[in-house]
Amino acid sequence: VAAGWTTQEIPDQTGRRALVTGANSGLGRVVAEELARAGAEVILACRDVGSGASAVGDISTRVPGARLETRRLDLADLGSVGEFAERLAGEDRPVDLLINNAGVMAPPRRVTVDGFELQLATNHLGHFALTGLLLGRLAAAPAARVVTVSSVLHKGGRIDFDDLQSTETYSRWRAYGQSKLANLLFAFELDRRTRAAGLRVTSVAAHPGYANTNLQAGSGGAFARLLALANPFFAQSAAAGALPLLCAATSGVVGGSYLGPDGPGERRGRPRLVGASAAAQDRVVAERLWGVSEELTGVTYGLGPEPVR
Ligand SMILES: NC(=O)c1ccc[n+]([C@@H]2O[C@H](COP(=O)([O-])OP(=O)(O)OC[C@H]3O[C@@H](n4cnc5c(N)ncnc54)[C@H](OP(=O)(O)O)[C@@H]3O)[C@@H](O)[C@H]2O)c1
Repeated sequence: VAAGWTTQEIPDQTGRRALVTGANSGLGRVVAEELARAGAEVILACRDVGSGASAVGDISTRVPGARLETRRLDLADLGSVGEFAERLAGEDRPVDLLINNAGVMAPPRRVTVDGFELQLATNHLGHFALTGLLLGRLAAAPAARVVTVSSVLHKGGRIDFDDLQSTETYSRWRAYGQSKLANLLFAFELDRRTRAAGLRVTSVAAHPGYANTNLQAGSGGAFARLLALANPFFAQSAAAGALPLLCAATSGVVGGSYLGPDGPGERRGRPRLVGASAAAQDRVVAERLWGVSEELTGVTYGLGPEPVR
C-alpha cells in the first residue's frame, strides 16, 4: 500500500458493480460515494430504504451522474438476506465488489427473529449468509473482491463456541469483540477457500480506526454514549475512517490482507497493512466457525477448507 494513500488513488471503477451494506450512514455512505465517484455502479443495501434513498439524494448532488440504487436488506433477518440475494442472483449480472460493512456496537442484549444474539447476527452471520448466497454472482465477475469490516476491538475478542449467542451471560463489549473477531476469521477463511477452489474471488479485511459515525450513539450503553460525546474531539472523520475500506476494495492488495489506519494505536491515519490478533489467524477456529455459521444460517458455500500442505 502506497504511504499516504487517498481516494485520488482509486482506479477507474467504470463497468464494476459494487454492493455496500449499511451504506446509508457513516463509513458505508462514504464508501458508496467514493466508489460511485470512481465510476462504479453502487447498490446501497440498507435496512431502512427511506434513509438509503436520502443518502442516494445527497451523493447524487455531489457526484452528478452517479449510478446508485437503494435496496432493502436487514442483516439481522435471514429471510431478508435471502430475498435480497435472490433478487440479485435472478438478475444474471456479476457483482464485482461486496463491502460487508454494516454493523451494530454494544447494544443491550437482543435476540433476532432467527433467535441469534443481535451483534453476532448483524455483524457476522448476516454477512456470512449474504456472501455465501452471492458467491455465484461474485465468481461470475472477472476479479471479484469481498471486503469485510472489522475493528481493533477484535483483539479482545474470543469465539465462545459453548455460548455463541451469549445466552448464559451477556457482556455487550464481549459480544461486539466476538463478532468483530468473527468478521476477520471469516474474511481470512473465505480467501483461503476461494483460492483453494480456484475462484476469482479474493477476500480482504479492513478497519477504520476510531471514526465519527452513528455507531457510538446508536448503541445506547454508558461507555458508548461517552464515546459519542468524545467523537468530535478524538475521532477522525468518517471520510478518513473509510480510507482503509476503500483501499482494501480498490488497491492491488492480495487476498487475506487486513488494512487499517497507520497512526498510533491504529486509531487514525492513512491506510496500511495491519496485524490481526493470533486468535484471528487461528485456522482451526476459523474452520469451526465456518461450519457453525453454515449450520446456523443454512447457507452452505460448497467450498472445502484449504488442504494442509
Ligand atoms: N466508527 C468506528 O469508529 C468504527 C470502529 C471500528 C469498526 N467499525 C465498523 O464499521 C462498520 C460501519 O459502522 P459505522 O461506524 O459507519 O457506523 P454507523 O454510522 O452506525 O453505520 C452502521 C450501518 O450499519 C447499518 N445496520 C445496522 N444494523 C443493520 C441491519 N440489521 N441490517 C442492515 N444494516 C444494518 C446501519 O443502518 P441504520 O442507519 O438503519 O442503523 C448503518 O447504515 C461497522 O461494521 C463497525 O463495526 C466502526
